[in-house]
Amino acid sequence: YHGMSLAMVSASGHTFRRAPYEPLMAGFIDLNAPNCYRCPYEKTFPECRLLCARELERVVKFEDPDTIACLITENTNTGLGIVPPPPGYMETIRDICTRYDILLIADEIITGIAKSGAWFESDRRGIVPDMLCIGKSISAGVGALALTHIREHVGRALAESSNVHHGFTYGGLSYLAAGGLAGLEYVEAHDLLARARQMEEMTLRRLRPLTEQSPVVGDVRATGTLQAIELVRDRATRELFEQPREVAALISKAGRKHGVLLNCQFTDYGNIITMYLPLTTTDAELSMIYDAIEDAVTMVEKTYT
Ligand SMILES: Cc1ncc(COP(=O)(O)O)c(C=O)c1O
Repeated sequence: YHGMSLAMVSASGHTFRRAPYEPLMAGFIDLNAPNCYRCPYEKTFPECRLLCARELERVVKFEDPDTIACLITENTNTGLGIVPPPPGYMETIRDICTRYDILLIADEIITGIAKSGAWFESDRRGIVPDMLCIGKSISAGVGALALTHIREHVGRALAESSNVHHGFTYGGLSYLAAGGLAGLEYVEAHDLLARARQMEEMTLRRLRPLTEQSPVVGDVRATGTLQAIELVRDRATRELFEQPREVAALISKAGRKHGVLLNCQFTDYGNIITMYLPLTTTDAELSMIYDAIEDAVTMVEKTYT
């Protein structure tokens, strides 16, 4: 998911968002996103030798590299249900983009600013994109502040090109920029990068054992404070629920009993409880959330197995 403008709907992969706007802008080519729990190539990591990343090179060669301007991707795929890339994936696609002179655009609208446990998730995955987009967390989600980092060679090309004109009524608002800077200082002063990594460890330690203990917990994943619990009708076959909306309602009801609003992403794909936790979430709040999730899992187990 990269947004709802016509160009970004065209660049995004969600069928349910694309379908109402067809026909979309021409010129976008989709690749399968990595998803080790539900590999589109039915392979297993690491024996797959990152087929999903290598596929990029095949497509680039097939299309002719001179016809491709850029690759737009998240690191952890939030739209798919918080799916972190397998180790080496981002480095491999970075290398392919460099070799074929294709700009790599990292969409860090969700993962940017500490959420992943690094300032940017691209840092954590060891890559330097050519362009990096940040939104949401730069203003803690409360102001319309977003920004794009560009590497020097991109900036130079833009400056030298006389036909790039860009401006918005609500662009460059200084009070929001001041708010964003204050937020960065807060993150630094409270070491929230470390806190995000700690929240990742706490969640995996507490909830990952459910993938062995519960017949309905298929996968537990986390990138910093972005976390997901993927529920399945049958852990062995990874089968989806026939009535995902009913399951989502049950999960929501269980959460409310604990005072927690649990978000089920993609009811049509199954049920993935996704969490986009604030960096300021306390240990007590995390405990409350874990209790709610465990209770929700038990309810799903009792009702559907
Ligand atoms: C990963 C990601 N990219 C891009 C966007 C689009 O941002 P905007 O809605 O500001 O266009 C979003 C918005 O939700 C997003 O989650």
